[in-house]
Amino acid sequence: TIYPDSEEASVAVARDIATLIRNRAAEGRMCVLGLATGSTPTRMYEELVRLHQEEGLSFQNVISFNLDEYYPMQPNSLQSYVRFMHEYLFDHIDIRPENVHIPDGTVRQEEVAEFCRHYEEQIRAAGGIDIQILGIGRTGHIGFNEPGSGAASRTRLITLDHITRTDAASDFYGEENVPRRAITMGVGTILEAHSIVLLAWGEGKAAVVKRMVEGEMTDSVPATYLQKHPEVSVILDDAAAAEL
Ligand code: GLP
Repeated sequence: TIYPDSEEASVAVARDIATLIRNRAAEGRMCVLGLATGSTPTRMYEELVRLHQEEGLSFQNVISFNLDEYYPMQPNSLQSYVRFMHEYLFDHIDIRPENVHIPDGTVRQEEVAEFCRHYEEQIRAAGGIDIQILGIGRTGHIGFNEPGSGAASRTRLITLDHITRTDAASDFYGEENVPRRAITMGVGTILEAHSIVLLAWGEGKAAVVKRMVEGEMTDSVPATYLQKHPEVSVILDDAAAAEL
């Protein structure tokens, strides 16, 4: 779906999420959201906060799983995804703290594999992800699944691509401060979500959006594996859709 601008698109996606949460609540069921960080979903989170504050949308029946986190990373660091999620969403809504899951950037290296296995188990125990929100990196990454990530990859520790570290440099006051690794849900983990909504805004994403939508499925552009999924929405503004 192509919107004239990201504002309208973000509001529309937030409303769809709100509808699912409310429908589930009416059935007395939990709603499991897969959440993303980065600049792309911030306006959508703002709208979800507004729906909570002004229209009584409750998140008491929501369980969330975030895609990724830098490694190593302290949760109270300026750049942590824990901090990001609290700042943009969790601190302003009524989600239960025990229902929030974000990969832990403080786990000891020898325990990362076990942590990742447990993260996947928690997703399964929650009944799987109902809606997975995604952004896309210039390398074609979803989550932090950099080029080389296969369709069957699972939650794991990965090495960040040089381009991704360049793109993150300003957040870290210089590329040399950007962590070299991250914990991310795998492509296979993401593909198990019942539905997927990928958002991309601006001309800087136009080339990778074209490769994702029209290119052949390949490990070198992990986002192309979304083509395999039966229920994916790609939500774009005009600029991100320019090369389609
Ligand atoms: C980061 C995140 C991704 C995100 C991507 C795009 O590296 N790990 O989940 O989709 O970059 O970021 P932005 O939305 O700021 O363009």
